[in-house]
Amino acid sequence: MRLFIAVCLSDEMKHALHDTQRELYNQGVRGRFTAEENLHLTLAFIGDRAEPGSVMNALSSVPFAPFELTLEGMGSFDDICWAGMEKSVPLAAVTRRIRRALAEKGIPFDTKPFIPHITLIRGASGKLPDIRPSQANMTVRRISLMRSEHGKSGMIYTELAALEAEGT
Ligand code: 2AM
Repeated sequence: MRLFIAVCLSDEMKHALHDTQRELYNQGVRGRFTAEENLHLTLAFIGDRAEPGSVMNALSSVPFAPFELTLEGMGSFDDICWAGMEKSVPLAAVTRRIRRALAEKGIPFDTKPFIPHITLIRGASGKLPDIRPSQANMTVRRISLMRSEHGKSGMIYTELAALEAEGT
């Protein structure tokens, strides 16, 4: 089972990101656009080398307080086009704590440095046009353990369990 830890986004933020995707399409960008319901922010990618129970066991030792996420800017890694967000100290801190908890429990994960991003398009063609992405912000109150699988018409992401912020 392919697992990852992510922030699932509010409907408002997903709508804003979908508007940005539409603008990119209108400006001629082509590729595999992430379905609106699948837009998310990955904090750690585990893949299929651990069971959900052991991951939740590690996650349960990570306290966090609610924090804000605000969209800001866009960028790309090769042919992946993404939306970025304002620098957030609590986001970086909780991600660091989650990754440390996974490591302490011997759960393997992708250790590439954390560059917070929301993938909008994979296999994007051409140069990114200079557009102004839609704005949105949200309060993060839960962090989700997600399963990723191939469906008939694209990826299906399912929340298996979640870590709730303190006081919620
Ligand atoms: P992304 O964060 O760049 O969008 C499920 O596959 C999620 O985990 C996606 O959001 C995906 O990419 C992210 N991810 C991070 N590292 C990955 C890896 N090594 N392989 C596959 N997906 C990875």
